[in-house]
This record gives sequence, structure tokens and C-alpha cells, in this order.
Amino acid sequence: MAPGHSDGYQVSADGVMLLARHDVRELLARFGSPLVVLQEEIVRAQCQAYSREIGKAPLARVYYAAKAFLTTGFCRLIEQEGLGLDVSSGGELATALSAWFPPERILMHGNAKTVPELELALAVGVSRIVIDNFAEIDRLDQLAAQADCHPRVLIRVTPGIKPATHAYVQTGQVDSKFGFNLGQDPSAPSAAEEAARRVLASARLRLGGLHCHIGSQIFDAQPFETAARTLMAFYAHLQQDLGANITELNMGGGLGIGYQPSDQPLTVAAHLETLRTAVLQAATALSVEAPELSDEPGRSIVGPAGITLYTVQSTKQIPGVRNYAAVDGGMTDNPRHALYQARHPVLAATRLHEAADTLWSISGRCCESGDMLAKDVALPGLQSGDVLAVLATGAYTYSMASNYNRVQRPAVVLAGPGRVDLLARRQTPEDLLRLDHIPAWLRTGDTPHES
Ligand SMILES: Cc1ncc(COP(=O)(O)O)c(C=O)c1O
Repeated sequence: MAPGHSDGYQVSADGVMLLARHDVRELLARFGSPLVVLQEEIVRAQCQAYSREIGKAPLARVYYAAKAFLTTGFCRLIEQEGLGLDVSSGGELATALSAWFPPERILMHGNAKTVPELELALAVGVSRIVIDNFAEIDRLDQLAAQADCHPRVLIRVTPGIKPATHAYVQTGQVDSKFGFNLGQDPSAPSAAEEAARRVLASARLRLGGLHCHIGSQIFDAQPFETAARTLMAFYAHLQQDLGANITELNMGGGLGIGYQPSDQPLTVAAHLETLRTAVLQAATALSVEAPELSDEPGRSIVGPAGITLYTVQSTKQIPGVRNYAAVDGGMTDNPRHALYQARHPVLAATRLHEAADTLWSISGRCCESGDMLAKDVALPGLQSGDVLAVLATGAYTYSMASNYNRVQRPAVVLAGPGRVDLLARRQTPEDLLRLDHIPAWLRTGDTPHES
């Protein structure tokens, strides 16, 4: 299945958007606006598109990348679908644990893991920790000694590959904050090789294999193939020249999804076939046994399933310049336009049969001109109270949400056949105030004077 937005909704006879057959007006009446709606069938179909491929050697595991979207209820869905979970912080790990996600299916990575996060990972026994830097090798070695355990680790390798995607989501290039760099020649001395030597020298750390993630929202098979071949050359070098008893290769995530009709994402099956073929061919050519292959998709699992509903609060038309429609959300619930100039499709969700004959720019409610959700999208004439649907918002929106301007986060619901359930309730002002503290000396109303 190709991840995309076109299959993301239905339309009633009177031109109203239905999500998993639920009328968007009823969803808003019940849960309020703005509202993030995740469609269960799409999430499950995407998970199943990945798990159908598991077991076709050498693909052995798929870890859902929690960073794309995570709540406890969503963890349960991923768990039910049989995938593993990739967490990159103590918060994501705590979320998984409180949703009874089995630690033996959890992998942890991140470029700045703290001691408490690593301690928690060791204490609960996550299955793998991806080591990102030299400091972490020493830190984890000490913590493992204190905890008297032998964690299985992977080394994150930065192969020097720059896929065609937004610069902020490129991660495999030489100039990257992530991982250990590999030189042009995978058997020449490099940071990645030095990391492997140090891990191999540790009495505590068990080197299981290599990890690599070249970036996100990638449409092209070529960089994935090149990364797999590059990693395999290094994998063979570690086995053959350093005697490393390694057995696995994790190729990270990165599969792009269709945001615009012109986008042409690879299917899940085609993407995994690219990785599989590259790994198998390289293994044969390098005379090593093929490693167990794993993948870490985030966006392609949850992105197409999400639609955010907003209510237009006001409009502003500047003749000959631009038409603005301001909604009750924005960069606080979806920072993707502000961060990456991302272009999500926008529809007038209760007026789908009307001609989209006017260009509108959809602005958010924050005190920031960059707080836009879309620029110049064709919609019918808009007015206050209209409902707008922003498509393909399941990934990297709610998980990147903020409380700028003390705007509260929207509710998130899971819409399935015949049911709609909360995954996260709407934040209240009390939720924000709960974290605040007034120092005692400021409580009285007196201002301290300098003596
Ligand atoms: C290490 C790692 N793995 C997996 C992912 C998931 O990537 P995507 O959501 O593009 O599939 C990311 C996201 O950037 C990542 O940093």
C-alpha cells in the first residue's frame, strides 16, 4: 500500500467529510475544536503492510518510531499489531511502559540520552540500545556495571549519504549531529570503527550490530540502497577484520508519504524490497551471512491516518495581495509548515461539493507571522465558523506540539468502525497552571528592594 492522503476520508451526499464514516460536525460537537482524528483502519493497514514483509529474510523486525506520534492508547494499538517500538527519550519509554508495552520489543536510541534515561532502559531491560557517541559508550559501560547487566547495543553509523528531503530531516550526511561517521572506504579507520573497537573491548556491552537512519520523508529508493550497501561493507569489515560477532542491521525509518497529489511515495513493500535486495546481494558479494534486518518507520505508519479539524475564527482579505483565514489552532498543534514549509492539503470539510474558487492562506492563532498552516490553497469563499480539514497530519504534528501563547493542545481521537475514542483529552488551562510555581517572596505582592 502506498502511504498517501487520498484514501483518508469519505464524503456524505451533502458534501460533508466523513472520517471512518463519522460526520466531522458530530466529532467536533462531541470533542471540541481543533481536533486531531486518527483513523484506526489506516494505522492498522500501514502496520500490516510492514508486518506482512517480516520474515521474508532477512527482514526480521519492524519497530514503530514513537517520535512520529505516541500516546499510551496508541502504544496499545502498535503492540496489538505485533510491531516493536523505537523510543528516543525517557518520556517515550515511560509512555510505552505505562501502556504495558513489552520491554523486549523496545529499542532505545537518541543522540543525547541522559543517565536517568539509560538507567531506566537498563532497569526495565529494553532489548537494544543504539549508541550514538563516544561519551555514551563509557556512560553505558559504567551504568551496565552498576546494574550488573550486559545490554545488547547497536552502533549508529552515519554513512555520508544526503537524501533529497528537507535539510532539517536529513540525518545521514557527513555534517550530521547523529551517530559515528564512516569514511568513503568502510574498511579505513573512522569514528564508526573506533566506536566498534571500544564497544568490543567492553566487558559489559554486547555488540549486536549496526544502525543507520539517513533521514525522513524520502521518495527515492537510491539513497536507501546506497546506505544499505555502505553499511553492509562496514558490517563485513567488522566481522572479518575485527572478529565482531554481530548479527543485525537496523536501517532506520524514512519512507516518505504523499502530502500533495503530485507526491509519489514508494510502497512499503517496494521500500523493504529495496533494503532486502541490497543487503542480500551485498552479503553474497562480501561473503558474510546476511544479517537480521530491521526497520523503524514512523511517518509512513501514522502520517496518512491523521486529519486535523479546525474552525475558522476570522478572515482577512487584502485585495490583490492575499486572503487569510485564521483558525483556532496552528503551529502549536502542527509546526510542520513553520518548521519545514510543509504543504498539507486543506479542505472545507462541510462544503466539499462547493467550487474551490478562491485562494486562501490558513493562519494559526499564535503571535508569530510564521504561524501558518498552509499558503494559497484553493477553497470556497470562507467565513467564520467554517470547518477546515488539514490532511495527513498523523505524524510529527501532535508529537511536536507546544503551548506557545499558552494555547492548549487539542484532543486526539481514534476513529474506527462504529466507535470514536479519546487517545488524549484536550488540555485545559489547569493543565498548564499545574507546572507553574510562584516563589514565596512573590506571593505577598511586595516587591523586594535592593538594600
Ligand atoms: C533514528 C530514527 N529512526 C526512525 C525514524 C522514523 O523516521 P520516519 O518517521 O521518517 O519513518 C527517525 C525519524 O527521524 C529516526 O530519527
